[in-house]
Parts: sequence; C-alpha cells; structure tokens
Amino acid sequence: MTQPLAIALTKGRILKSTLPLFEAVGLVPVGDAKETRKLRVDTNQPDTKLLLVRASDVPAYVEYGGADIGVTGKDVLLEHSGRGIYEPLDLCIGKCQLVVAGKKDAQIDAPGILRVATKYPEVTRRFFDRRGQQVEIIKLYGSMELAPLVGMADLIVDIMETGATLVANNLEVIGDPICDISSRLIVNKASMKMKHEKIHQLINDLSKVVSGNSL
Ligand code: PRP
Repeated sequence: MTQPLAIALTKGRILKSTLPLFEAVGLVPVGDAKETRKLRVDTNQPDTKLLLVRASDVPAYVEYGGADIGVTGKDVLLEHSGRGIYEPLDLCIGKCQLVVAGKKDAQIDAPGILRVATKYPEVTRRFFDRRGQQVEIIKLYGSMELAPLVGMADLIVDIMETGATLVANNLEVIGDPICDISSRLIVNKASMKMKHEKIHQLINDLSKVVSGNSL
C-alpha cells in the first residue's frame, strides 16, 4: 500500500520557484496551484497532496504532523524552535539576506537603547546579544521599512533580496549581513521514520535537481 504524503508549500512568490523543483521530480499539482483558492491541492500522484499555507506557518504544520514535509525560508526556521523537525535540504531558491538597515545617518553603535523593528525577534535578539548590545525590539508583521521613516524605530532587521524596497524608502544596509537565507525542505521527525522510503526518495531526487544533476 502506498503511504499518503502531505507537503506544505509557501503561498506567494516563492511558490513560483518551488513548483518547478517538484515538477522536475515528477510531482505535478492538478490545476494551477498558483491561482487556486483551494488550500489542499491534488497532484498527479493520488497519495500526495500539497497544502498551501503562509511561510511562517509551515514549521507548525510540519511539527504537529499536519504535513509530513514543508518548504519554507531559513528566516522563518531561525525563528522556530526546530522541535520535531529535520531540515535535510537547502533548495537554493528564495535566496536573500537578513540585514540590519536604517536611515542614512543611523548608527548601530549609537548610545542608549536602540529600538529595532522586525518580524524576526528571536534572530534579532540573538544578533544583538552576540554584540553585547541591549536593544528594544518592536515586533511587526510586515512593511518594517516604515518604522524608521515615522520615527518609531532606529533600525530594522529584515530580509533583503534586490534592495529595491530599502532604496525606495531611503534606507540603507548597516554593516555586514546577519546571514544568508534560502528556502529549505523540512521533514516531520515521525514521518521520516514511518514513511522513510518515500521521503528519502523525494529528498534524494530533489537534491539531484538542486545540484543540477539529471535523475
Ligand atoms: C520582503 C521584505 C522586504 C522586501 C525585500 O517583503 O520584508 O520588504 O521583501 O525585497 P527587496 O530587497 O527585493 O526589495 P515582502 O514583499 O515579502 O512583504 P512584507 O513586507 O509583507 O513582509
């Protein structure tokens, strides 16, 4: 009997780069997964479904067994405890960097306790802890670039891909990037045991596609 498999993918722009990887290993959604309002999508493999969820929810779906496998950014994973999850493969898509940014005259070493607006409080806390610097973190859910412009924060910690959003808002990167980011394949630890053959095969096939080898 074949084992059912649920794969949680991130809705939005990252889906455009994720689907070709899965298609290259023979897993193709039925219909247009990029356009559908359905949240659970059938594939050409009757026992495999795609779940379309928010990037930040992918680790929860995989940790709690709603999905066996997930794809999400390293930025999201750095905020997650990692409990119950393996991260076996860097898919090398969705590449960007996590950076500190601020207005042109902003200084990371300015005296006093700086306010930092971010969607990534854990990474931000760890980054400033490593610097031995106490900061006040303001948790936001998007459009972080606005916070320094309206005087609500001194700095932001956010992902930068092209840099266009920073430029458009008169902000610039301060110092070196905190880290490089890309999308990762994650696997529920129990699923890895129970559905080892199928998941192992998928990881192997995807890793060949990612490294540019044909199957
Ligand atoms: C992300 C990020 C930046 C932007 C960076 O936002 O938060 O705002 O992309 O990309 P760029 O360097 O190519 O300009 P996203 O579009 O995901 O929306 P969000 O603000 O809701 O997180």
